[in-house]
Amino acid sequence: MDEQRFAWNEMTVGVCYYPEHWDESLWANDLDRMLANGITVIRIAEFAWSIFERTEGEFSFDLFDRFLSLCAEKGMKVIFGTPTATPPAWLTQKYPEVLNATQSGVLMRHGLRRHYNYNSPVYRQKTCVIVEELAKHYATHPSIIGWQIDNEFNCEVNDFYSQADHDAFRVFLQKRYGTLDALNAAWGTVFWSQTYTEWDQIHVPRPTPNGSINPHLHLDYIRFVSESAISFCGLQADILRKYLRPGVFITTNGMFGHLDNHRMTDEQLDVYTYDSYPNFAFLLERAGKLDQLRDRWSSKSLTEVRSICPHFGIMEQQGGPGSWYNRMETPTPRPGQLRLWAMQSVAHGADYISFFRWRTCTFGTEIYWHGLLNYDNRDNRRLREVAGFAADLKKLQPLCGAQMDAGFAIVRDYDNVWDAEIDTLHRAIHNQSENAIFEASQLYHTPCDMLYLRANTTLQDLAPYKALFMPHASILTQDRVRLLEEYVQQGGTLVVGCRTGYKDECGRCVMDPMPGLLQPLTATDVADFTFTSPAEPVPCAAWDGETFEMPVYNDVLTPLDGAKVLARFTGSYYAGEAALTEHAYGKGRVLHLGGTFTVENTRRILAHLELLEPMRTLVEAPESIELVMRKKDGRRWLFALNYNSFPVSIQLKKPLVSLLTGKESTGNFELAPYGVDVWKVE
Ligand code: GAL
Repeated sequence: MDEQRFAWNEMTVGVCYYPEHWDESLWANDLDRMLANGITVIRIAEFAWSIFERTEGEFSFDLFDRFLSLCAEKGMKVIFGTPTATPPAWLTQKYPEVLNATQSGVLMRHGLRRHYNYNSPVYRQKTCVIVEELAKHYATHPSIIGWQIDNEFNCEVNDFYSQADHDAFRVFLQKRYGTLDALNAAWGTVFWSQTYTEWDQIHVPRPTPNGSINPHLHLDYIRFVSESAISFCGLQADILRKYLRPGVFITTNGMFGHLDNHRMTDEQLDVYTYDSYPNFAFLLERAGKLDQLRDRWSSKSLTEVRSICPHFGIMEQQGGPGSWYNRMETPTPRPGQLRLWAMQSVAHGADYISFFRWRTCTFGTEIYWHGLLNYDNRDNRRLREVAGFAADLKKLQPLCGAQMDAGFAIVRDYDNVWDAEIDTLHRAIHNQSENAIFEASQLYHTPCDMLYLRANTTLQDLAPYKALFMPHASILTQDRVRLLEEYVQQGGTLVVGCRTGYKDECGRCVMDPMPGLLQPLTATDVADFTFTSPAEPVPCAAWDGETFEMPVYNDVLTPLDGAKVLARFTGSYYAGEAALTEHAYGKGRVLHLGGTFTVENTRRILAHLELLEPMRTLVEAPESIELVMRKKDGRRWLFALNYNSFPVSIQLKKPLVSLLTGKESTGNFELAPYGVDVWKVE
């Protein structure tokens, strides 16, 4: 992993503000009240293109000049956004080729945002012009401490089908494959007579009789979308870097699909920021798609964010009930919840927390996406809660830059994340297992990290973890296997699940027995495999007299020389066959589960590896409480977060002093509804 180029040296609270939405007479009072409530940074301007360039080539900076002078006067620091997420009407009207399109080629029109495409030469040129004008004008402004590029790459839509994308896809493929022969081989185009004889025959996905397309093309298309977004981000970063004062950082916000956020951050950004809206959990819950973790699922996203940038910021932290005028109805955060969710971000490594937004907009799509203040502009409980949080954060100052203390990591790589998106078999097992492993880690207080295997990943990145869970790496490459082998050789534990290692980097199936390149490490062979049958009871596996379910998919394992069988299937036609094996390799070991991970089998495996509940000598808590440990320079801090609407008791096993209240507690400790506490451990 590359070193991050900027990190906050103080825990900081911010808010998103839109001077262009309000009468100027409100500005001074707004800034005064922010500062009085502990908010010292604002993010501005990311949607204001039509203010800066009302018609083509006619620039005006007056409004933001006046506002920034006021910021300088009041001592408010500013993160300035480039406005490219919202091309103005004059631009899209005159140059419709800048627009994104549906798969059928229908242009996405003005009226929302992110309606542009990354590859249009005109859009790239217009972007360079506006960014250069803004950078020239504002780069030396004393209030500006950082720049945000665009807003939420790949939000709203992460598929691109404009003419510019068809054209750029071919260039991308020419670079990747060199010749059409190589491309035809990589995509297996001999199947169904898909062979290409001219580059112009190749397109980003277009409508087909039932929507399916060549899977290898599909995988490359997602790589292409990611590449396009990174290059568009880089276009802007390069311009900004020509003008910025030293110490002023470049970031972007949000984490969306079809984008290698790790590479974008390493190559283009100084620091990464995320937008955290835990209330979305309630939408999923209403749709029957979520279980008991609810808003705790945001901790999984934060875990992923930490893998991109260990000391990240939150550019948009939920500040109120959020819905658009036509979608996403969610409840008002209960008293305590805003603070809880902000602390969830802090517990997972954020050193900057900026709420979205200061005041709810009185017009436009987001009239119900509430900020801290309501339309009436009166002080309210949400603002008081944020002021309280800002005061709390001051007390957590020693934690700034602290690391998360995690004993194991969930391993990912972008090839497999994207393959799991397009391949329904892979998706079914990937989602089941990743969620179950994360849920087990949450419920049984065994914090985990996420680790992406990338071209620049080294043994040093893997070595801190006692175990790595790589549930279903269908795609394996020599490089990744070599790295995993080194990790196991020097004492690490690797845990893999079913359908490991049957594809190459193009997504083509290999003719080796599963788990392919990993077979020397697992010492297993997959003799047979199946989706579990709805006509039979869910197959189980027995391990030391206890049984657990093996749902969704089963690989029937044959242990080879040296592999020990830990568990055997108890149901279906493969009852009695190996379901979980362990193979000592070098100084470490490799476990192979012939199935998907569940909360229960993960708990058993973690217990077997002696990783379960690492904080148990310090604290005991019910499953509904999240426990997190952060560490820095030999010091450690324990977070306990109560996501429940009722008080919950935990047991502190030794006297601990709270950083928030200064009180020492031991034994029974009651966390208030939506309550949080943080203790110094040593
Ligand atoms: C974020 C976005 C904000 C605002 C918010 C509420 O995704 O960055 O600009 O739209 O959602 O919808």
